[in-house]
Amino acid sequence: MDAVTVADRRSKGDVEPLVRLARDDMAAVDALIVARMQSQVPVIPLLADHLVAAGGKRLRPLLTVAAARAGQPSNAGGEIDAAVKLAAAVEFIHTATLLHDDVVDGSNLRRGKTAAHLIWGAPSSVLVGDFLFARAFELMVETGQMRALGILARASSVIAEGEVLQLTRAHDLNLDQETYLRIISAKTAELFAAAAESGAVGAGADEACVRALRAYGLNLGLAFQLADDALDYGGVSEELGKNAGDDFREGKVTMPLLLAAARTRGREDAFWDRTINKGQRTEEDFRRARELVVGTGAVVTTLDTAHEYADAAKAALKALPIGEWRSALEQLADFAVSRAA
Ligand code: IPE
Ligand code: IPE
Ligand code: MG
Ligand code: MG
Repeated sequence: MDAVTVADRRSKGDVEPLVRLARDDMAAVDALIVARMQSQVPVIPLLADHLVAAGGKRLRPLLTVAAARAGQPSNAGGEIDAAVKLAAAVEFIHTATLLHDDVVDGSNLRRGKTAAHLIWGAPSSVLVGDFLFARAFELMVETGQMRALGILARASSVIAEGEVLQLTRAHDLNLDQETYLRIISAKTAELFAAAAESGAVGAGADEACVRALRAYGLNLGLAFQLADDALDYGGVSEELGKNAGDDFREGKVTMPLLLAAARTRGREDAFWDRTINKGQRTEEDFRRARELVVGTGAVVTTLDTAHEYADAAKAALKALPIGEWRSALEQLADFAVSRAA
């Protein structure tokens, strides 16, 4: 729908060049993920595998590996063992947040499968999430890289802060744009930033590269979450692997909703007040909300903003040596915004 129209005007980007370049490294990351999610306690590997085997885009560990390769001094092309461990840790942190997030958001579908909490219950989902978090820290410690450990430890607390901030602030139509950006920066962009930064640090990149890759990750993460929030109204559940409309169903105020409410002020105030502020919502209300969000161009504007962050991410890459990794990262920035899934 509209999301596609906007993307069509620009480069669609592609994740494939990066996936191709990182194939061997990512195979090592995946093997490590499978090995380290094992446990003698049966429900742990079962529940973790439900989510891990379902795939996911693996964007964050890709970033860690790519940052290590792109930032490696003189592009040595040798082993990046520390970055591989950090990448697996990053995906574990991400997976843990998804397990927790689906409980908090009451979401039914994740990566095209029934959400784990609906199969094993919320307590198991939360506790296995904790296990994966803890495993992430074991992996980081094994690298012996205190600085990388510090970066990812800090990101973990920032994500949790972002989720709590969202819980307390994002269910009120008076949410301001600045707080919304603070929320998505913390809950999503910080892990993208830390994924890239820790990969660069783990590979011994120079400080200018580390800073550039962190800035790239942060802007990419903001672009990614803005696109995600646009897709919640403009996307298709089957492609997303999660239910479009979940943000509205739980009364979460995101940029498309904020814009639509502002653009229909004086006309639809009662509708927004009832569905968001008072929390009285039906599926029919979601269809109406989607019509208003799409019809007022709020999806398009949200994606335009996402593109601005993607451009900022690409600009940050200028500090890196020209090469195949840098151009693959450029393509990823466009992909993060024009994706349908
Ligand atoms: C989902 O992230 C959570 C958000 C930040 C929107 P992804 O869309 O990267 O999830 P997977 O890993 O590909 O399933
Ligand atoms: C994603 O939050 C961020 C984290 C999981 C920390 P959302 O709630 O917006 O993501 P989806 O839509 O469930 O993937
Ligand atoms: Mg959610
Ligand atoms: Mg979402």
